[in-house]
Amino acid sequence: MTYQVRLLGPEDQQLAWNLGSLAFGYHERPMPEGWASDSPGRRTVGVFDPAERLVAKAVDREQGQWFGGRVVPVSGVAGVATAAELRGRGLGRLVLTRLLHDARERGAVISTLFDTTPGPYRALGWEEVGALVYWTAPTRVLAEIRPDTTTTLRPATEADIPAVDEIYREVARTGTAMMERSGPAFGATPAQLLADYHGFTVAVDDTGTIVGYASWNRGPGYDASGTLTVHDLIGLTPEATRTLLAMLGGWASVAPTVLIRLGAADPAWSLLARGDAKPETTQPWMLRVVDASGAVAARGWPRHLTGEVDLELIDDVCPWNQGRHRLVLSGGNARLEPGGAGTVRLTPRGLAAWYAGAATPQQLRRSGFLTGGDADTDELLRTATAGPVPTLHDYF
Ligand SMILES: CC(C)(COP(=O)(O)OP(=O)(O)OC[C@H]1O[C@@H](n2cnc3c(N)ncnc32)[C@H](O)[C@@H]1OP(=O)(O)O)[C@@H](O)C(=O)NCCC(=O)NCCS
Repeated sequence: MTYQVRLLGPEDQQLAWNLGSLAFGYHERPMPEGWASDSPGRRTVGVFDPAERLVAKAVDREQGQWFGGRVVPVSGVAGVATAAELRGRGLGRLVLTRLLHDARERGAVISTLFDTTPGPYRALGWEEVGALVYWTAPTRVLAEIRPDTTTTLRPATEADIPAVDEIYREVARTGTAMMERSGPAFGATPAQLLADYHGFTVAVDDTGTIVGYASWNRGPGYDASGTLTVHDLIGLTPEATRTLLAMLGGWASVAPTVLIRLGAADPAWSLLARGDAKPETTQPWMLRVVDASGAVAARGWPRHLTGEVDLELIDDVCPWNQGRHRLVLSGGNARLEPGGAGTVRLTPRGLAAWYAGAATPQQLRRSGFLTGGDADTDELLRTATAGPVPTLHDYF
């Protein structure tokens, strides 16, 4: 069978809805008026059979994620589906290989995605590097936290949203892989953002500066099922974090459970007993390096690290990455120069996990993703991407 791989046009949107809604289980709903898989910053790649039937698709989202203090251009992959009867015959590989090619052409240097299963993506060089976890905790354990007396809380207004965005960005900038919440994927106005939540609370210090916020939804009922879901809770100061958590505790009598999205190293953990919290949902996410030279140039690196390592990248899905490169690190920047002795060999999954700082060279060697090198190259590579645990708070 000869398949055609191309970007979807306006006339293909119903086909995209049909394939996606069946794969992800909302096919009972008719396609909403004006719905489109494609919008600014979103392109859908489709595979068509000779009868012009859409048999596989994948969406490339333009987004930025923070690595080493810089925003790296990313292809966020979503809505990947193959027609039920044709799964396991290479159409997923076909559509994703094309997506990677096109994403590189438009300037994306890495790709991330939330996987329902890692298998198809591992086969193409993505690796799981993190997970978005919602934790449940009994609200009464938060009721034990005392608010800070110099910090006040109030509902956010539209005028507060730029300050709120900056608070998020300050945390994202110093994290690994956190989303830059601007650009086409984040077009909501302040009014729309506030309307998305039952509560949007800001914490204000005694100088009148907003130093933290929480966005939350209050679920139905006031019996044992009552749940407060907290999407973001960010305090720039210990007082803000404490006071926002204490506010959640105030719901103990009517919402006995708090469901809260927290990264592994969130300062909120300094006020919670880990034994009180249980993971409720865990959504793993994966990373792939799309353009190795571009990805190395785009992220920030440790300013105090200088050195060189000769790499050999193995990559038959993105063949432009394939071959020998010298990694040169200096003064917070790095580049990949063609050539070198190919001392350390990395598979695409190894390169992905190393880039994210999700695994050390020694762990990669034990996984079979890195070969060659010695204690010195291991140390340089480990230090180069060591940093906060890769964290994403935005599902897509
Ligand atoms: C996931 C999905 C898109 C894969 O598409 P596909 O056309 O079946 O994939 P392919 O046949 O091209 O397989 C690509 C590779 O992934 C591997 N693979 C496919 N499905 C797999 C699975 N469930 N587990 C492990 N590996 C799998 C294949 O072995 C193949 O590797 P290879 O080329 O090295 O042999 C398809 O199964 C699907 O539509 N599933 C339902 C919707 C879904 O889960 N979407 C993913 C959302 S993140």
